[in-house]
Amino acid sequence: MTYSRMSSFSVYNMKIVFATHNKHKHAEVSAILGSQWEVLALPDIGCNTEIPETADTLRGNALQKAHYVYDRFHTNCFADDTGLEVEALNGAPGVYSARYAGEGCSYSDNVQKLLREMQDADNRKACFKTVVALILDGQEYIFEGRVDGIILREPRGGEGFGYDPVFLPDGFDQTFAEMDGALKNSISHRGRAMQKLIDFLNNR
Ligand code: IMP
Repeated sequence: MTYSRMSSFSVYNMKIVFATHNKHKHAEVSAILGSQWEVLALPDIGCNTEIPETADTLRGNALQKAHYVYDRFHTNCFADDTGLEVEALNGAPGVYSARYAGEGCSYSDNVQKLLREMQDADNRKACFKTVVALILDGQEYIFEGRVDGIILREPRGGEGFGYDPVFLPDGFDQTFAEMDGALKNSISHRGRAMQKLIDFLNNR
């Protein structure tokens, strides 16, 4: 299926494809981009295959996913890749955050493995990093966002996804999983990278 090419990038009523199947991320990013943007996810353009993510950097994976969509669907699009980097684990799980506990593992499996690996660690410092790759009329653009915090010893909260229940951002007493989504988006790695994307598009 070919998706019609978008030519207008007016900030009003703009459509853009976000190269993800992840409903949590699609909802989060749609909220961050605001009501003037129509954010289409992969199922919305008839792309039901899993896009390969075989690079060994966040930037490489984000570009790989964005090019996959651009090359096949001929539509302007962006893709993101996120990693949790833990100081005491020398930056792990990093680019392997999604499958830290093995192929097909759940978010909870990953959190449990992280807590096991860190059970003797006094240094709890960690950060989330997001890289967003935008392909606009064939040109690549990269935007990055980061949030620092610590990894708690036990999960707290039922919102969000992934490592949210054990991540306490610096300057806050709620984990990402205890926060209202709007507050998380305003300080998160993905929120910050997306804000740079929005600023770029709005200033074109
Ligand atoms: P992705 O590149 O956005 O798919 O992220 C890779 C993995 O990092 C996900 O499978 C989650 O485990 C984790 N992750 C990404 N974003 C977040 C977040 O906002 N909170 C908690 N975990 C996240």
